[in-house]
Amino acid sequence: MKLKFKTTIIAGACMLTVPLSTGVFSADVFSGYTILKQETKEMQDDDFLNQGMEAVEKGRKLFASIGKNGKSCATCHGQGGKKLDPKVIATYPVLNSKTQHPVTLQQHVINEWTEKLGNAPLKYESSDALALEAFVRHLARGQVVNVQTGGEMAPFYERGKKLYETRAGQLDMACASCHGNYPGLKLRAQVLSQGQSNGFPLYRLANGRVVGLQTRMGQCYGQFRAEGYPFGSEEYTLLELYVNARGNGLKIETPAVRF
Ligand code: HEC
Ligand code: HEC
Repeated sequence: MKLKFKTTIIAGACMLTVPLSTGVFSADVFSGYTILKQETKEMQDDDFLNQGMEAVEKGRKLFASIGKNGKSCATCHGQGGKKLDPKVIATYPVLNSKTQHPVTLQQHVINEWTEKLGNAPLKYESSDALALEAFVRHLARGQVVNVQTGGEMAPFYERGKKLYETRAGQLDMACASCHGNYPGLKLRAQVLSQGQSNGFPLYRLANGRVVGLQTRMGQCYGQFRAEGYPFGSEEYTLLELYVNARGNGLKIETPAVRF
């Protein structure tokens, strides 16, 4: 499906303009890091300046904390998660063997929290759930994103792609309108990236806190005046599958820093 950009609507609503230089953008995947200001890059690169590390440290504590049944995540996965395989972490969302449905990394750690430790459930995108996810994904920092798209995953991937390309809201736009066809264009003063997810959960300076991918997707829906979906919903799971897979080949940056 090809999406035509409605310049008439956009021109009035958000002032989309062509950047002075398009040379840095190629057809290849590129991380949102590429379009950051130098000072933001430096913040991300330095663990002492990177405010996302607070969530990672909080997650590290939760990982070691004893649950209702007397176990911790570390009981099975080793101190600091050293028995977890970073290559596996880079494949999420994965197909759950029991439900035969994709599960996001955050949903997986929420499930582990309740099923393996006997704790009360964590709310999706809550600060504890984000901290645990950030800690686990940070273990895979530098690993290449490698999400399965074929085989039994294919129908879910196709549904995620469809959602990504579905127009909605007053501005009648889709995710692909901004991140698919015209990466490198400007929206107001901001250069657009491909909307990649390799940095999540990440520290968003504009929010002054760590946000998860589904929060960011909700913020984007708000940006084009459309309704998002509930966190942890089927739609966001499928979108996360498609968005992560679009970034196959990028290196995980968790926790990234973004404007
Ligand atoms: C009782 C042991 C046990 C506990 C406690 C436990 N897990 Fe797991 N976890 C497992 C097993 C077993 C697997 C699955 C390996 C498989 O099925 O392939 C797994 C898989 C995972 C994976 C996927 C990576 C992989 O290698 O498959 C992550 C991430 C994970 N657990 C995180 C956590 C977190 C976070 C906690 C604490 C909230 C936790 N686990 C608690 C046993 C445990
Ligand atoms: C009106 C334009 C617009 C639309 C439509 C839009 N976004 Fe965005 N999005 C932005 C802007 C602006 C940013 C911040 C700058 C950047 O990275 O492009 C952003 C950032 C993101 C990021 C973070 C990128 C990073 O490097 O951290 C993700 C992920 C994302 N968008 C996903 C989506 C998804 C999924 C949809 C559809 C639900 C969507 N966006 C629709 C404008 C848009």
